[in-house]
Amino acid sequence: MIPSILPTYNRAPLTFVKGEGAWLVEQDGRRFLDLGSGIAVNALGHAAPELVKVLTEQANKLWHVSNLYTVAEQKALADKLVEVSFADTVFFTNSGTEACELAVKMARKFHHAAGHPERVEILTFDGCFHGRSSAAIAASGTEKMVGGFGPLLPGFRHLTWGDMAQLEAEIAKPDVAAVLIEPIQGEGGIRVLPDDQLKAIRAACDAHGVLLIADEVQCGMGRTGKLFGFEWAGIEPDIAMSAKGIGGGFPLGAVLATEAAAAGMVAGTHGSTYGGNPLGCAIGKAVVDIVSDPAFLANVSRKGGLLRQKLEGLVAAHPEVFEGVRGQGLMLGLKCKLPAADVVKAGYDALVIGVPAADNVMRLLPPLNITEEEIAEAITRLDAAATAVEAAQ
Ligand SMILES: Cc1ncc(COP(=O)(O)O)c(C=O)c1O
Repeated sequence: MIPSILPTYNRAPLTFVKGEGAWLVEQDGRRFLDLGSGIAVNALGHAAPELVKVLTEQANKLWHVSNLYTVAEQKALADKLVEVSFADTVFFTNSGTEACELAVKMARKFHHAAGHPERVEILTFDGCFHGRSSAAIAASGTEKMVGGFGPLLPGFRHLTWGDMAQLEAEIAKPDVAAVLIEPIQGEGGIRVLPDDQLKAIRAACDAHGVLLIADEVQCGMGRTGKLFGFEWAGIEPDIAMSAKGIGGGFPLGAVLATEAAAAGMVAGTHGSTYGGNPLGCAIGKAVVDIVSDPAFLANVSRKGGLLRQKLEGLVAAHPEVFEGVRGQGLMLGLKCKLPAADVVKAGYDALVIGVPAADNVMRLLPPLNITEEEIAEAITRLDAAATAVEAAQ
């Protein structure tokens, strides 16, 4: 019999009843150190007091009015994002997938409005993940994502990650609208695009009148030690997608764009009932205020460096289990030799939570305010997990 919840997920047999900072409490009372943050969502940890305060104050004031009216909390968050980023304008969504939908629509509309309706193709890369809508799965194009879901949305071309010669050839075609790329692939296994490649992609976009869309849903909002991952390469996209961390655990997403890239998006061209609701935006503003502070970002880099250094030691101590560490800031991956799923499972037994990803990688995406003591404790627990996996061989 089909369960009451549509069985689309492979869930671990864990039920958490409370969260506090980097800690999750299981219903049986066990305390887990959470290095997953709900897949890079709880940027400030669970039940962050600053966010609980804003949430309860806003909940007592106003939850939802719709975009028929001016939403003050939405304006405040948009103004803040414009202040701290390349963007001139922002549209709010409820998720990363919805941000992907708009980013793609916006890029095509830009060219349409500029008199080039033939420019519709979006270039994407193997290993990418942009969500689960029809456009987002077409962007990925893998059999796992699209198989059985009927006619695939056209308008996406799939390139090889890191193959710059292929990119240079494809981007020169006159029907290309945009390049859509994660500066660090998350689901794809914490694959970091070298800075010089992102720079070269930006330059190629400029040379051919193609827009650059950065998917910052997982690697953005301070996770790498910069507000956005693309900042490491010293470039700016035309459009960026945000979600996950920006809501600190509340469903919120955003599309940030330059004035030029957004030129086609006039009244009536896009909308969302819940997008930009007062509750989500009040929380998002609190998150962005905290995370965009240069001192906070410097701390993320410092703690990321510390965690990475300790993980290198863990890899050296367990060469049969791990191959290496990769990533940036607090978006790190342990490339495994043994199945990453086994390591993640052993982590559960050792009361530490990691997240599996493609390419046999265990992702570590702790809250951005994890403490040094918690990092040390995480390594102790990961060491216990690795020892258990070794022993089971
Ligand atoms: C890079 C990236 N883009 C888009 C998405 C989709 O976001 P959501 O699950 O909020 O729709 C994800 C989710 O994992 C992601 O990692």
